[in-house]
Amino acid sequence: MRFVITAGPTREPIDPVRYISNRSSGKMGYAIAKAALEAGHDVVLISGPVHLDPLRDVHVIPILTSDEMYNAVHRAVRDCDALVMCAAVADYKPRKVSATKIKKRDAHFSLELTLTRDILGSLQSKGRQFLVVGFAAETNDVEANAQKKLHAKHCDIIVANDVSSAASGMESDQNEVTILFRSGETKKISRAPKKIIARELVKIFSNTREKRLTKKM
Ligand code: CTP
Repeated sequence: MRFVITAGPTREPIDPVRYISNRSSGKMGYAIAKAALEAGHDVVLISGPVHLDPLRDVHVIPILTSDEMYNAVHRAVRDCDALVMCAAVADYKPRKVSATKIKKRDAHFSLELTLTRDILGSLQSKGRQFLVVGFAAETNDVEANAQKKLHAKHCDIIVANDVSSAASGMESDQNEVTILFRSGETKKISRAPKKIIARELVKIFSNTREKRLTKKM
């Protein structure tokens, strides 16, 4: 199978020296890319700025902003069997980017933000051939919120994780996830190193894709 995997944060520039970003380390996305490669799949990795060792035999497309990730995903999915949106794409970006460094002035400073484009939400769902997997980073009502995203973003699968605890989710080497399928079925993977979770996820993604293909035949 040909996988397109996104990983890491995006950076939304404020001026030439500042940006808005988030704590995503990219570890989960990179672990999925590695697991997919080891399982014999082709991998395109669209990566935000991370401090991880580069992966061998993976075609990496480096991006910085959510707009760059949007364009890279739209180009890459033209030729893929599964899109795994593991990246922590910024939800908002500065409405205007200053061409020069913003100088310190008053005691208070407000920055006007505007929504970024929702990459998952922008993908055509009708007649789509490839599998779409979204991730849901939640701190509360994890399953209920993930269920909403599964439908709102027209995903085939949502992988939900609780990012409220330091022991799983962002920056950690471990994770525990709940996988939600369109059929309403759910599956839990209990706490394990991201490497182990990634292997399990790749198996689930390829099995779901296989099942869909045989159904259509
Ligand atoms: N996502 C996306 N484009 C965006 C924001 C998020 O494609 N502009 C994707 C993420 O890569 C992830 C999924 O949407 O696969 C859910 O991301 P998450 O941050 O959990 O949810 P949001 O849609 O941003 O909603 P909220 O922040 O309100 O929970």
